[in-house]
Amino acid sequence: MDNTLENDVSLAIGHRSLSDLETRLPLWPPISQQATASGTSYPVEVTYAYDRVDRQLFAQPPLPGLERWAPLLPPLAPGLSMAEGGTALVPAPELAAWAGLNGELFIKDESRNPTWSHKDRFNLCSVSVAVATGAPGVVLSSSGNHGASAAAYAARAGLSCIVLVSPDTPPAVQSFVQAYGAAVLAVPPAGSQTLIRQIVERLGYHFAHHSWGCEGYKTLAYEVFGQLGGRVPTAVFIPTSNAQLLFGVWKGFRELHELGVAASTPVMMACEPATRASHFRAIEANQDHVEIVEGPTIAYAIGSSVSSTLGLLALRQSSGVAVSILDDETQAAQVALAGRGMWQEASGAISLAGLRQVIAAGRRFDGPVVCVTCSSGFKDLGVGRDPAPASELEWGLVCRTLARHYGTQRALAEQLRPFLGA
Ligand SMILES: Cc1ncc(COP(=O)(O)O)c(C=O)c1O
Repeated sequence: MDNTLENDVSLAIGHRSLSDLETRLPLWPPISQQATASGTSYPVEVTYAYDRVDRQLFAQPPLPGLERWAPLLPPLAPGLSMAEGGTALVPAPELAAWAGLNGELFIKDESRNPTWSHKDRFNLCSVSVAVATGAPGVVLSSSGNHGASAAAYAARAGLSCIVLVSPDTPPAVQSFVQAYGAAVLAVPPAGSQTLIRQIVERLGYHFAHHSWGCEGYKTLAYEVFGQLGGRVPTAVFIPTSNAQLLFGVWKGFRELHELGVAASTPVMMACEPATRASHFRAIEANQDHVEIVEGPTIAYAIGSSVSSTLGLLALRQSSGVAVSILDDETQAAQVALAGRGMWQEASGAISLAGLRQVIAAGRRFDGPVVCVTCSSGFKDLGVGRDPAPASELEWGLVCRTLARHYGTQRALAEQLRPFLGA
C-alpha cells in the first residue's frame, strides 16, 4: 500500500498531553504509544487548526465512510477506509418505556460497521499510523472486537497483524480474527503488555492502541448531531472499558460546541460491569487515576487490562457519571434490545442497562438520550452452545415447540389446543 497519507486534507497540527494539558508536541513523527509494564497508556490527543474548519463539514449527511470527516481526523492512509461509520440511529420509544425514560431514546447501533463494532472507526485512524511510519505490522491485545477490526484494516494495508487474546476467548471470535489473516496468540492477559512491548521493540510493529484511534470515535458524535437534525443529546450512555470510546465521543461533542456548531454538550454516562467498574470506583474514592480491576462478567469485552486518564477526563469535563451495572441488568437489556430486533453483545447492551438503572435511581433527562450499542451478539460467551436438537419431521414437534416458546399467547394456545391433546 502507498504509505503517503492524506496530509493536505487533515487539519491536525500536533499532540497535546492529557496529563498536562499545556504541554504541546508536534504531529510528526506520530508519538508511539507503547504498552507500559503498568498497563498505563494514551498520554496524548491530537490537536487541530480549528480556526480553519469549514462549518459546512457538519451540514453533510451522516453517511458511511469516515474520510468525509478528514479535516478533523489525523492524516488517513488513502484507500484504507471501507465505508465504516454512518451507522443507524434507531428511534426506540418501546425501549424508552422499558427503561422508564419519559422522553426520546435513540440506539446508535455500532454493530453495523464493517467488522460489526465501533472499533472500525478507531482502526482506520490507528492503522494509518502504521502505514505512515512504515511499520511491518500491527500488534495489540483484544477481547475480540478490536482484534478483528485491527486485523481487517491491517489486511487492507498489506500489513501483518498479531492479536493477543485471553485463552477463554470464544473460538468463533478467534476464527473471526484469524479470518483476516492475523496471527492469534492465546496467552494470559496479565503480563501480555510485556510481550507486546517486545514485539514493538524487537520487530518494529505498531502498537494498535494508538491515540490517533480515539479521534475516529469523534465521528460518532458528528453523526448523532446530524441524525438528530442539529440537536445535541442530553445524555449519551457508553459501554466503557478503558474509555477510549467514551473519550472520543465526548471530544467530538466538545468540538461541535467549541466550534460554535452545537449549542450545548451532552452528559457522558460510562456504563461498566459491576465486577470491574474502574471508573465508578475511582470516582467513588475521589481518585485522579483509574485502577485495573479484575472480575468475571458476561460483558467480557469491556474488561480491559489497560487503564488511562481518558475516562475520568471525559466524565469530569462533561459532568458525567460512571454507572456500575450487574450482569442481570445487562442481560435484561440485551433481551429487551433483541425484542426490538437488535441482537447486541452483552458489552454493548450495557448502555441500555445503565439508562434503566439511573432512571430507577431518580435521574431525569429533559432532551433526547442516546445509548450506544457496540457490537453484535454473535461474539458473546456461550453463543452456539444451545442448538435445537435434531428431530423427526413431525407436526407434533411444531405444536410442542410453539407451545413452549409462545405458550403465553392466548390466541396461539387456542389454535394449538386441538393438536396437543388435553
Ligand atoms: C463491545 C464493546 N463495547 C465497548 C467497548 C469499550 O471500549 P473502550 O475500551 O474504549 O472503553 C469495547 C472494547 O473493547 C467493546 O468490545
